[in-house]
Amino acid sequence: MKVFKDIIGLRQQLHTHRMKEQTIGLVPTMGYLHQGHIELITRSKQQTEITVCSIFVNPIQFNSKEDLDNYPKSEEKDLLLLDQLNVSYVFYPSVELMYPSKAETSIGFKNMADILEGEWRPGHFVGVGLVVVKLLNIVQPDKTYFGQKDLQQLILVKKMVADLNINSEIVAVPIVREASGLALSSRNARLTENQKVAASSIFKCLTAAKEEILKSGGVLAAKHIALKILNNEKEIVTEYVEIVSMDNFEIVDKYTVDNTAICVAASIGNVRLIDNVVV
Ligand code: PAJ
Repeated sequence: MKVFKDIIGLRQQLHTHRMKEQTIGLVPTMGYLHQGHIELITRSKQQTEITVCSIFVNPIQFNSKEDLDNYPKSEEKDLLLLDQLNVSYVFYPSVELMYPSKAETSIGFKNMADILEGEWRPGHFVGVGLVVVKLLNIVQPDKTYFGQKDLQQLILVKKMVADLNINSEIVAVPIVREASGLALSSRNARLTENQKVAASSIFKCLTAAKEEILKSGGVLAAKHIALKILNNEKEIVTEYVEIVSMDNFEIVDKYTVDNTAICVAASIGNVRLIDNVVV
């Protein structure tokens, strides 16, 4: 495994593989790697010849300085893990390398980025959009791997790549969970054991809401059930429970298609968690 902290070196290296017609997979991350990230890497290793994992805590996608400052980091542990996983290359740029000056360009999204995460984290997707385009331009991967854990991000990136004719296939990877149902997240590291137990209610509420939709088709009833379960947990502060179409990420008030997902965002202490299930 080789770690690149510069763009030129990485590009030259990847060029040699492209000359040999080897396929390249990219797994973009913000580090503090866990089994969810590992799942993306495993997929990339199965489906492409060369896997590049990027680790970059992208400051412009954080809408709170506190959240950015508290984002967990573990460079040594991450690199050791990636080495054990036999990842070909790691791209580990600094903020100065990615943003040598304040970017003049931004990716403007329309409706899809204004709801759910976009509403609660203004500017978040504009930051995600720019860094993902930059990473795609630097690595030029045949396939790029995203987790369904960040469903809105996944659908938005898929649409952006299609809209901009970027030549990379976006591959979706299912959510990896703890035995309790809690979706793995780098942010879970900031939860106490008791808070982790409380956080498992998020998956419980999603499961109950899904059962309700499948039983009665009632979107409002499903939301109501989910909120009741979350409200029972004193430590949880719910931001939203929404039911969306996975085709265009629009909020739906009727269950008509089977391409529907239930999405939740909630905080425990100062840790913000998101999760979803597909109906
Ligand atoms: P990060 O939160 O590090 O996540 C990197 C990738 O891992 C994302 O595609 C995310 O959906 C996926 N992932 C996280 N937890 C997962 C889980 N439990 N199961 C399956 N996949 C999971 O998402 C980002 O970083 C950033 O926004 C990024 C795309 C790197 C742009 O900065």
